[in-house]
Amino acid sequence: MPHPDQAVVTGAFGYTGRYVARRLLDEGVSVRTLTRKSGRADPFGGLVLAAPLNFSDPDGLRRSMEGAGVLYNTYWIRFGRGWNTFDQAVKNTKVLFDAAADAGVRRVVHFSVANASVESRLPYFRSKGQVEEILKASGMSCAIIRPTLVFGEGDLLLNNMAWALRRFPVFPVFENGDYRVQPIYAGDLAAQAVAAGLGSDSFVADAAGPDTFTFEELLRLLTQAVNARVRLVHTPPSLEFTLTRLAGLMLRDVVLTRDEVDGLMAGLPTSDRPPAGTTRLAGWLVENADLLGRRYVSEFRRNYQR
Ligand SMILES: NC(=O)c1ccc[n+]([C@@H]2O[C@H](COP(=O)([O-])OP(=O)(O)OC[C@H]3O[C@@H](n4cnc5c(N)ncnc54)[C@H](OP(=O)(O)O)[C@@H]3O)[C@@H](O)[C@H]2O)c1
Repeated sequence: MPHPDQAVVTGAFGYTGRYVARRLLDEGVSVRTLTRKSGRADPFGGLVLAAPLNFSDPDGLRRSMEGAGVLYNTYWIRFGRGWNTFDQAVKNTKVLFDAAADAGVRRVVHFSVANASVESRLPYFRSKGQVEEILKASGMSCAIIRPTLVFGEGDLLLNNMAWALRRFPVFPVFENGDYRVQPIYAGDLAAQAVAAGLGSDSFVADAAGPDTFTFEELLRLLTQAVNARVRLVHTPPSLEFTLTRLAGLMLRDVVLTRDEVDGLMAGLPTSDRPPAGTTRLAGWLVENADLLGRRYVSEFRRNYQR
């Protein structure tokens, strides 16, 4: 089945959404985006039309999606701040799905997270699980894609770890560092998502890469790639969390959230299904090491300051 000739991507000027939009454009699909960002942040030179991602204007959202066959939804928050809570993000996403249905959008490809569950004790994973249930109950044709940890140009987490590895003589590893991660390349994730936009059956699929590392192996790989002279020091998670909070205060950012630390240590960024991604992190690091971690990228500045 050919891809519908028009699609909407939330966050096409952001990280994963940018890869999805690029992939769609390459396949000849016309792309619109819903975003809080202005045209100044547009990496597509005007090829992607932008409309406001304004959840208090459902009519505006509906109008912005009319004529589109597929909605690719990357909207989410990494942590709650003030009124911008996970509960609010769940409500916002429902407003978006309802507006898509009213606009006649045929299918939703939704980005969730590996091991999302309404039963999770971690708010990030629990609220992601709630959104999945809302989408399944909506009756819309949908593909729910559950990424592990995404690497690629514009990534923040691995970049900032590399930044710290480059600069400091020691780097803390919570406990024994043996919990597993299975990163996926953003380009592979976009390919998987766009392929999912073609079908009509509803499904849930993990998006994981070909290699599984322990967290310590991942750090050693990064250390080697950026040629850092750093000692990895095992620390209790409570100390690690205090250190990341201190680093956050200094950098005026949230470096790692409690959910991210607990999720990492529980091995949640992995999948027990055959991997969808084929790009190997080790090879990607060799090609991109020069740029990786050269500067700190602030989540707060990118997504919480307007
Ligand atoms: N990155 C990963 O490693 C990873 C791993 C697992 C799952 N995921 C999931 O994959 C999706 C895309 O992730 P990403 O890292 O590529 O995200 P992103 O590009 O930073 O943001 C994606 C979207 O969320 C919006 N957004 C981000 N922070 C926000 C905030 N504080 N308030 C309001 N809107 C906000 C952005 O809006 P604007 O366009 O207006 O900026 C954009 O539409 C998300 O659903 C995420 O949960 C990502």
